[in-house]
Amino acid sequence: MELSLRLRTICNMIDSCKTIADIGTDHGYIPIYLIKNKICDFAIACDINKGPLEKAKENIKLENLEDNISLRLGSGFDVITPGEANMAIIAGMGGHLIKDLIESGMEVFKSLDYLILQPVQNPDVLRKYIYDNGFEVIKEELCIDEKIFYEIIKIRYANKEKDINNIENSVENDIFYEVSRDLINKKHPLIDEFIQYKINKYSNILKYIQEDSSLANLRKKEVKEKIYKLEELLR
Ligand SMILES: C[S@@+](CC[C@H](N)C(=O)[O-])C[C@H]1O[C@@H](n2cnc3c(N)ncnc32)[C@H](O)[C@@H]1O
Repeated sequence: MELSLRLRTICNMIDSCKTIADIGTDHGYIPIYLIKNKICDFAIACDINKGPLEKAKENIKLENLEDNISLRLGSGFDVITPGEANMAIIAGMGGHLIKDLIESGMEVFKSLDYLILQPVQNPDVLRKYIYDNGFEVIKEELCIDEKIFYEIIKIRYANKEKDINNIENSVENDIFYEVSRDLINKKHPLIDEFIQYKINKYSNILKYIQEDSSLANLRKKEVKEKIYKLEELLR
């Protein structure tokens, strides 16, 4: 079984532990890889849909790992008891859904050493939620897999006081919801390319706003501000 670069990058952020929980496991590749590579002893592979769990079951059987991986049908952390897993992964879902799953599984989240998130859309929504709630960002990662950027965020529950001087919490610096401050600080090798990709994306959006209505002009202003803030990050 050859893992994609995206999944390998996620797995490389996981420290050795007893039990992991993979929320939205689908094919079950993450738990299988983690057990086979002795990163954990036991895994709980969860999914809200029967089809993906069946797929995971087949893959787990092929690898003879039935005794090491428990399959659970249900939403988010509903199927996990606090204290059952040392860490969890939620990968391949949108930022809004991930946020909702953390919110409704708060007791399990609090019991984890850390949680790894890989939002496919709206990572900004997720970062805002993380900062607003004072959770601790342990580390972030970025990779390009099949020409697509993937952002991975490792967090743990904390109840840090909201600091108005903290740049991450400042509305003027909402660009850091879109571009990870951790990746900028550690000069991640892909960060400039990622910022440039975002500048190009917003420049293209700007070209498509043809209307001259007040709403369209407001949107143009917002997009221009975003481009300006992104360009500032490259200076
Ligand atoms: C795109 S797949 C991602 C699979 C894998 N985590 C990965 O990153 O490659 C999303 C999976 O999440 C599952 N899912 C969606 N909503 C869920 C929820 N509320 N709780 C658990 N699993 C969910 C879907 O059934 C699907 O199998």
